[in-house]
Amino acid sequence: MANLLITGGAGFIGSHTCLVLLQAGHRLVVLDNFANSGPEALRRVAELAGLDGWSTSGSGSWATADRRLTLHQGDVRSRRDLDPLFAAEPIEGVLHFAGLKAVSESIEQPLHYWGVNVAGSVSLLKAMEAGNCRTLVFSSSATLYGHPERVPIAEDAAIRPINPYGQTKAAVEQLLADVAASQPGWRLARLRYFNPVGAHPSGRIGEDPLGTPTNIFPLLSQVALGRRPVLQVFGHDWPTVDGTGVRDYIHVLDLAEGHSAALALLLSEAPQLLTLNLGSGQGHSVLELANAFAAASGREIPLQHSARRPGDSAISIADPGAAERCMGWRSRRGLAEICRDGWAWQQANPRGYGT
Ligand code: WQD
Repeated sequence: MANLLITGGAGFIGSHTCLVLLQAGHRLVVLDNFANSGPEALRRVAELAGLDGWSTSGSGSWATADRRLTLHQGDVRSRRDLDPLFAAEPIEGVLHFAGLKAVSESIEQPLHYWGVNVAGSVSLLKAMEAGNCRTLVFSSSATLYGHPERVPIAEDAAIRPINPYGQTKAAVEQLLADVAASQPGWRLARLRYFNPVGAHPSGRIGEDPLGTPTNIFPLLSQVALGRRPVLQVFGHDWPTVDGTGVRDYIHVLDLAEGHSAALALLLSEAPQLLTLNLGSGQGHSVLELANAFAAASGREIPLQHSARRPGDSAISIADPGAAERCMGWRSRRGLAEICRDGWAWQQANPRGYGT
């Protein structure tokens, strides 16, 4: 099995992927600046993976007794934080989750988003080159498709981002293509997520947004819990089954398994640049999602219909065929399981990891 660096591994998707990678036998070194996360998520990942002795060395580092999982507080923009990780031991592959991901925030703070998402990726790639590591799985996003011309969306659809967040994802994808073309030996996967939701069924790890979330699933969870009075429904006049927005919601564990499959493919094959959609291929409206969550939680979900949200599109659904063809992966968990697992997390952790 491999020695891997996971940037942003304490975050929502990163922590679930760390668990799947540990269960696959890999050894992980995590770098995270805790901008939207903390060490508690990985303490629980170690527990779920059956690893003992999680403790801190006091200087912003934590590790399990067998060092199968180590965590360093640090920033991908800093070579001072990155280079020692490659010098300490040979890193055979990197999964790069570290980045900012809120569309509305990216519109207010483009410089910050380009600094973290793009300059951070440049810094990481330079450290990888210096550390003689040329295998990378990149956390990209379906947001780079913008308003799709047709759905389901395949990987050859036009790249037309409509906000700075999507622009940064498209820019890093282009950077990876340029690096792959310039130097032999790079094994690269660009994984385009649709809408990651849900949580590990244990209720021990899940999505713990900092401040007020903008994406629907944590908002829905907080309404069910009674922390929020209503769920605002943005638009009731879309050309969809019931007038509300339709999205491709993918269970975070399906997404984590997709990363593990992409890594295995890169490690086992010749240098390549892989670009794959990670979605379920199923679309669900806001009302369908709210009804499924009400059924899973047994709670009322009061709705308040309001105007469309600027920048939204009516429908976004993945064509997941390429991922199935090239790595035998497809999502396995449906909407009921997504809502059951998401509710288990929210109910057990009313204040997230701060509970
Ligand atoms: C989903 C649907 C809204 C909130 C975002 C990011 C994207 C990706 C996934 C990282 C839409 C509706 C939402 C609310 C609502 N993240 N909605 N009331 O916009 O599809 O994608 O998350 O890669 O980059 O843009 O997700 O959860 O914000 O919205 O009615 O309070 O729910 O209109 O139809 P989105 P979302």
